[in-house]
Amino acid sequence: MAEKTISLGNADSGVDFDVMSGTLGPDVIDIRKLYGATDQFTYDPGFTSTASCESKITFIDGEEGVLLHRGYPIDELAEKSDFLETCYLLLNGELPNKAEKDKFVHDITYHSMVHEQLALFYRGFRRDAHPMAIMVGVVGALSAFYHDSTDIDDPHQRMVASYRLIAKMPTIAAWAYKFSIGQPFMYPRNDLSYAEDFLHMMFAVPCEDYKMNPVLSRAMDRILILHADHEQNASTSTVRTAGSSGANPFACIAAGIASLWGPAHGGANEAVLNMLGEIGDISNVASALERAKDPDDNFRLMGFGHRVYKNYDPRAKVMMATCHEVLDDLGINDPLLELAMELEKIALSDPYFVDRKLYPNVDFYSGIILRAMGFPTSMFTVIFALARTVGWVAQWNEMIEDPSQKITRPRQLYTGETERTFIPVDKR
Ligand code: CMC
Repeated sequence: MAEKTISLGNADSGVDFDVMSGTLGPDVIDIRKLYGATDQFTYDPGFTSTASCESKITFIDGEEGVLLHRGYPIDELAEKSDFLETCYLLLNGELPNKAEKDKFVHDITYHSMVHEQLALFYRGFRRDAHPMAIMVGVVGALSAFYHDSTDIDDPHQRMVASYRLIAKMPTIAAWAYKFSIGQPFMYPRNDLSYAEDFLHMMFAVPCEDYKMNPVLSRAMDRILILHADHEQNASTSTVRTAGSSGANPFACIAAGIASLWGPAHGGANEAVLNMLGEIGDISNVASALERAKDPDDNFRLMGFGHRVYKNYDPRAKVMMATCHEVLDDLGINDPLLELAMELEKIALSDPYFVDRKLYPNVDFYSGIILRAMGFPTSMFTVIFALARTVGWVAQWNEMIEDPSQKITRPRQLYTGETERTFIPVDKR
């Protein structure tokens, strides 16, 4: 693969390293032999300049605002595809033909029930538990229920585990909500699409019919597509790291959910709504921006900025259009949307944000849509986790099949004490 080399170090002790080129994106310097050859490590906290793996799944050009899944632009998938077709694409590398799609939809649909014993598991949580806490626990617990799909060396078991995770996640997520409000769990319905079924399990009750709104189910489907994968972000890297030790897929995805929960990652959509609520009124936008710019204040404009995108997040554009569709259909005049638009307008023309290339990210609008659809704020990150499950699973499978895969074991720059002698407690 490597056609070029780069020499690091001085003329006497310089070492040549292969430079690897992908199909898109920057070249990478293969430093695997660095330590052996020079007795030195590289230092890259947060992995801002490190490619942790080779991948064929998702490509992002942050400068240009491009996001491709298996080569297909995200806005085309959001417009022309549907979530399960996108799942098939992420998992298999190609769009399915009609027969492949029908079979995939059937297989996912017919794995959506969970073991009945799992329903009892929810009762161990407090009713006021955050649904993400329930997700971490229940998804981790799947490894105790589905022993027949935890052998990671068996491709069939890996596929079964992957399907189970994608199929059961809406049920598990909706039940986390139902438990918190004391309503009966709704069982999945095989006559509904993936997005419809999730809405049904969230909002239906057994005593009456639930009328599906096609605008909302389409918006739900689109939100799922937009969050399906995003290359080596924190939670995906967590899944890969957890999986690199040979841990079972359910445990690895639970680890991914835990990582996603943080406000700098998937928790940002919840944080955006909380922030808009705190700002409260357009008259307070200017002072909020001043706080966001103040280096001594740790307040940040949630839903703005991205480690990779230094341009408009392509997902945010689709999300904004979807947001308007949903609000128009529901006839909602949400003052928070007005506030969000004002904040966006001012931030995009403020030199602080312009100079740092801080644009609205996917989470800026998703919270407003989800709120209009009736989701409580605490469920926002859960929906992100539900959508991202396919990305995690696709990346986990790719890692296991990669012959160069090794257990993730970074090194460190040690700055602690040098060796010293133990002093007994009575002498300290
Ligand atoms: N508000 C105000 N200032 C910001 C913001 C923000 N939202 N984001 C970055 N900055 C400033 C930061 O203070 C720094 O300024 P300076 O150079 O003067 O010190 C500069 O921009 C670079 O920031 P950074 O922290 O080095 O950038 P990062 O790549 O480490 O952080 C981020 C990326 C997403 C964590 C950050 O932009 C952030 O905290 N944004 C708000 C949270 C958010 O919306 N997260 C969702 C990300 S998208 C969904 C996902 O993929 O999970």
